[in-house]
Amino acid sequence: MSIEQLQENGLTGPFELADKSLVDAVCEVGIELQALQRQENIVRQLAGQEPQFRTKIDRHMEFKVMRDLCLDDNVKSVVSEHFGNDLFIWGSVFQLKSAGVSENIWHHDRAYENGRDQVNLYDTSNHFTVLFALTDIGYGAGRIEYVKGSHHPIDGWNRDMRFVKEVPELVHDRIGTLTMERGQFTVFHSQIMHRSLPFEYGEPRISLAVRLARKGTQIPDYYPQNPNPAAETQGIARFNPSATFDFN
Ligand SMILES: [Fe+2]
Repeated sequence: MSIEQLQENGLTGPFELADKSLVDAVCEVGIELQALQRQENIVRQLAGQEPQFRTKIDRHMEFKVMRDLCLDDNVKSVVSEHFGNDLFIWGSVFQLKSAGVSENIWHHDRAYENGRDQVNLYDTSNHFTVLFALTDIGYGAGRIEYVKGSHHPIDGWNRDMRFVKEVPELVHDRIGTLTMERGQFTVFHSQIMHRSLPFEYGEPRISLAVRLARKGTQIPDYYPQNPNPAAETQGIARFNPSATFDFN
């Protein structure tokens, strides 16, 4: 069932963590990193510098609770069943949505292919994401939406841009909402288009996205030239090749 869901939608879940005892500890890491980033940006502003947004990215090598969460028994078995073995973790990012936090516009997470190879957007064999719900994720607190089936080409939709404000009308009936409960996770092909809406109401929501790639994939230092020319100047343009560890 979940295999069919993955094939059809590009995403499957949610699934339950085998061990939810680490969820609060990882959540605390996310909250403190967010607070640190805010503080750093206040100081940067005093210094006349631009804000930076890397504080919550790729911290999994420093925090054992993050790595242990990634290696949860059910995460490993779900990933293995859907994406196979020989994978490694190369990146992670916390998302915290609370009052005043705006939207993350439509985008996909297939930020590179292999070194500086051109991105092969519809390859379903090598780039995957695991999204952990560290709190409940519902409709009001930065709702997560995705375009079902956007891991495959969709007639009439040009996907050359990695980030877009709006998706075309012709895929509006494919837009799904991803809701999850604390201690659940979802897996997807990294190229599916997704976004999160501005925070509207409810408790703050905290999630952690972890990126997997097939072993042998080279991580570039920054965004490659790819079919998404805008990617060169959009988003966070650096990678951390040392933030990798074996997944299975
Ligand atoms: Fe994303």
